[in-house]
Amino acid sequence: EIGDPVAGEKVFKECAKCHQVGPDAVNRVGPVLNDVFGRQAGTVEDFTRYSKGIVRMGVDGLHWDIEHLDTYLENPKSLVSGTRMSFRGLKDPQERADVIAYLRTFSAS
Ligand code: HEM
Repeated sequence: EIGDPVAGEKVFKECAKCHQVGPDAVNRVGPVLNDVFGRQAGTVEDFTRYSKGIVRMGVDGLHWDIEHLDTYLENPKSLVSGTRMSFRGLKDPQERADVIAYLRTFSAS
């Protein structure tokens, strides 16, 4: 991963329509993305609108690491069939690396 969190903050504006990060983050259309690294997919407490697909992937062992985040952000439906995240994906690998680096600044691991 060679991502730039400062550039990633700009990329995150696309995500911020649906997701929040930081100390005051609350669930919106999508779940809060604090501490996403290492977390089992589909398990943010109080987020009640997950798709069956993402919950099943989590139960089957999907945990968010760099590789899986990269795949999901490139094309959400390619990793999680039936995902409720209606986002066309980030085609540029550098943008994905940058936004992942930005997310990492809100994760302990
Ligand atoms: C789920 C990241 C854009 C709506 C997720 C998850 C991640 C993520 C990591 C999985 C969370 C978990 O398992 O708890 C991002 C990033 C984005 C982005 C980095 C921008 C590059 C968006 C946009 C929307 C959205 C624009 C709304 C149009 C959702 C929803 C889910 C989700 C509804 C739950 C998916 C499901 O239940 O299948 N997102 N997201 N996201 N996101 Fe996004």
